[in-house]
Amino acid sequence: MSLPANVSNRRQLDEAPLLVAARGGTPAHTPVWFMRQAGRSLPEYRRTREGVPMLRACLTPDLVSEITMQPVRRHGVDAAILFSDIVLPLYASGVELDIVAGTGPVVNRPVRGAADVAALPALRAEQVEGVAEAVRTLVAELGDTPLIGFAGAPFTLASYLVEGGPSRNHERTKALMHSEPETWHALLGKLAETTLEFLRVQIDAGVDAVQLFDSWAGALSPHDYATYVQPHTNRILRGVAEYSGDEVPRIHFGVGTGELLTAMRDSGASVVGIDWRVPLDRAVSRLDPQGHQPPVVQGNLDPAVLFAGWDAVRGETERVLAEGRSAGGHIFNLGHGVLPDTDPDVLTRIVEFVHSSSASRR
Ligand code: CP3
Repeated sequence: MSLPANVSNRRQLDEAPLLVAARGGTPAHTPVWFMRQAGRSLPEYRRTREGVPMLRACLTPDLVSEITMQPVRRHGVDAAILFSDIVLPLYASGVELDIVAGTGPVVNRPVRGAADVAALPALRAEQVEGVAEAVRTLVAELGDTPLIGFAGAPFTLASYLVEGGPSRNHERTKALMHSEPETWHALLGKLAETTLEFLRVQIDAGVDAVQLFDSWAGALSPHDYATYVQPHTNRILRGVAEYSGDEVPRIHFGVGTGELLTAMRDSGASVVGIDWRVPLDRAVSRLDPQGHQPPVVQGNLDPAVLFAGWDAVRGETERVLAEGRSAGGHIFNLGHGVLPDTDPDVLTRIVEFVHSSSASRR
């Protein structure tokens, strides 16, 4: 069988520490990047974004590539992450929503029943052509630094659509899930198709890895995750694996997912993102109780620790590195996104520290 065009055209970054670690090899140093590295902690980001609404910025190729490059230039991280948002494919496909500063995504007409689900549009590739153009520019500009593409997973997207905005308890979402399972599965099936299409566009344009964010999946019991979410997430991650000839690593992350780690891995992830609540060595033994095939993990410094002064940050960084040594590969990251008031110099220092301490151990 001949490989799809997107596989044969893929640039080869065989030595890039992020990709070596993601594939379970031994990188020259522990790779490090930060979720939400492109964003409000950087003064240059705030200047670039001035006067431009978030979602418009995400569809403007020049802005996307500039903002994506900013943390790479400043911190020397081992990966860029595309500047975008999990709700972008919904917005681009015609769902009326906005990102409200200080709140998050707000949906004009929430999805509350079968008719709303039936009316939900599917994403067409040309609606996110601006993203594809930005990715093509970025892979040329980034040289040896990998570009991570991303999307939101169906449960987290469904929560915003059903609740109409951010939610603490996800009560309407869970009510729909349990009272109208057919409507629920129709909704998640549609979201999975849109998400997979958005990731295919990014893969065609040249991203080197993808991360699927199911940020709020930790709100679910293992039973509900397995019944109502996993089949749809699996459809996406399997779809990415097939589409890329298994060449594009698939990172899967959620917050508060300690009890869901094996299920999230079994959804088709090749790298499991861990929040700060579960020490990496414990995550490794949960994912591989027999010690046969240590998993590749990403994480998990508590983003709030970055406010505690360098001695504390260094100590916690050392602990995370030590706990990551039992993994089959470790991509250093925070346990969730960079908080907006973080001092960016602390991020730069963490990158330097992770690089120097991990390189000297080889
Ligand atoms: O990681 C990166 O640097 C890439 C950019 C990125 C953004 N959003 C940019 C953004 C990524 C990976 C996301 C993903 C995202 N968006 C998630 C999953 C990751 C997570 O944090 O769990 C979620 C849940 C969203 C939804 C969303 N978008 C929220 C909760 C917010 C914050 C709202 C606020 O003001 O508090 C956004 C807006 C957003 N997305 C901003 C950025 C830089 C801030 C917009 C601004 O500058 O005003």
